[in-house]
Amino acid sequence: MSLKSEIERRKTFAIVSHPDAGKTTLTEKLLLFGGAIHVAGAVKSNKIKKTATSDFMEIERQRGISVATSVMAFEYNEYKVNILDTPGHQDFQEDTFRTLTAVDSVIIVIDAAKGVEPQTKKLMDVCRMRKTPVIVFVNKMDRPSEDTFNLLEEIENQLQISTRPLSWPINSGPGFKGVYNIYSSSLQLFRPNVQEIETGIKFDNIYDSGLEKHLGSDVEILREELELLEGVYPEFSESEYLAGNLAPVFFGSALYNFGVQELLNTFLKIAPTPRPRLTNERIVNPYEASFSGFVFKIHANIDPNHRSRIAFVKICSGKFERNKPYTHTRLNKTFKISSPTAFMAAKKEVIDEAYPGDIVGIPDNGNFIIGDTLTEGENIHYKGLPSFSPEMFRYIENADPMKSKQLAKGIDQLMDEGVAQLFTNQFNGRKIIGCVGQLQFEVIQYRLEHEYGAKCRFEPIQMYKACWVKSNDKQLLEDFRKRKSQRMAKDKIGRDVFMADSPFILDMARQEFEKIDFHFTSDFDN
Ligand code: G4P
Repeated sequence: MSLKSEIERRKTFAIVSHPDAGKTTLTEKLLLFGGAIHVAGAVKSNKIKKTATSDFMEIERQRGISVATSVMAFEYNEYKVNILDTPGHQDFQEDTFRTLTAVDSVIIVIDAAKGVEPQTKKLMDVCRMRKTPVIVFVNKMDRPSEDTFNLLEEIENQLQISTRPLSWPINSGPGFKGVYNIYSSSLQLFRPNVQEIETGIKFDNIYDSGLEKHLGSDVEILREELELLEGVYPEFSESEYLAGNLAPVFFGSALYNFGVQELLNTFLKIAPTPRPRLTNERIVNPYEASFSGFVFKIHANIDPNHRSRIAFVKICSGKFERNKPYTHTRLNKTFKISSPTAFMAAKKEVIDEAYPGDIVGIPDNGNFIIGDTLTEGENIHYKGLPSFSPEMFRYIENADPMKSKQLAKGIDQLMDEGVAQLFTNQFNGRKIIGCVGQLQFEVIQYRLEHEYGAKCRFEPIQMYKACWVKSNDKQLLEDFRKRKSQRMAKDKIGRDVFMADSPFILDMARQEFEKIDFHFTSDFDN
């Protein structure tokens, strides 16, 4: 198959939601359709949870939250589908946001009874910023839900995006009868407690007398609502969807496998194939012959039996080949990757080639950090991996003096993964961890113990913000460092960071040193 046809059959996307809206359940159902897993039915079965989801980490099983972002790929009809899973918990949003830089489109799951929840809004903000095409799946229609028109209005207002229903529910909760697929004019009937895949009954128009047989008096309401809908909403515009301005909306129940296949089929028809991407130097088109890609995630110790670390590379252009020399542009070093892996659901397997849209896992022993670019030699650097301003800080101390080497190694590797940020106070040498969510501290402690055999303790620190300080005036920077010596730290790669313990202290420093630049995230050098 040519490079062009390989690219055109690839759909790389993420499913995101507020926790509990049904992201995991929907992912599992999509995997079932794709034959990537074979346990039909009950999501509650532990088995399916283990094989289908991103249970890379023990901690996830213990806490029931998806901490690691994983990749699940499967073949469906002529398509190659790559689903990038994201952590549900808000304390791991950084991981989710980084993953969103590696997808070409997104499915947002909303709980029909709860409507738009806070985290859904934040995730949509990231999609809007990047103009990522979004499809909305309104889940849990088998439960009593809001009025459909109100729900759509809420989605438009809260998510600040135009919507266009492509399917329409017939009631909800105990009276839920099914979903009419506007896109394909077919009706799918709902049978409670049946989780198997059903085929839709096809009608060419909603005035077909056969509809009454299936829906009884509800058919009138359906007709009225569809007429109203056609009056209110313009025709679905695929180009507006692809431009990130319009979200098609589907309704269903992931738990009952209802409306999922319709979602998948329409998604595959309309969702974008890999798109051009920006580097610092130029726009790279996926159809270019030369391979290029970037690291959006690093994960250590995926397999507890082997000390392994994997860099997840999103392929952006050309064909990736095993054992071909590729340039790591930040280090200006050449690497041959002898055992790249693909992720087929829970399985990893070594592959010989991969194409734009695919995610390849590269075994790594410390050469990669998040954001690194690989090419066939061209010196380019992919852009747009967000970094975050830490909001919570703690001193990290060694709780087992016999294991200080393990602790240092563990901290080093976890920071490379982007789990949190590390600062070393230049005055007293103490190490400070900066996070955006409380749970990250617990994950660090847990992983240090279970993956590195090291014990740590966190101690409180009075701190408001970490600011990267920069100036072309070397002398001025030196004066700043001297004057603020008690509050100066270095980040992991040795850059100067001012640790302000209150907004007042920060304001004072900025007024005193007007010619110094204060940056609140670490990616100001890009
Ligand atoms: P998340 O990944 O977005 O956090 O949500 P997840 O899929 O884990 O679903 C959260 C809960 O909602 C689960 O129930 C799941 O079974 C349920 N659920 C998902 N889709 C539907 C649906 O269409 N209808 C109904 N009625 N429920 C749905 P749980 O009891 O919290 O977990 P579990 O014991 O079933 O795993």
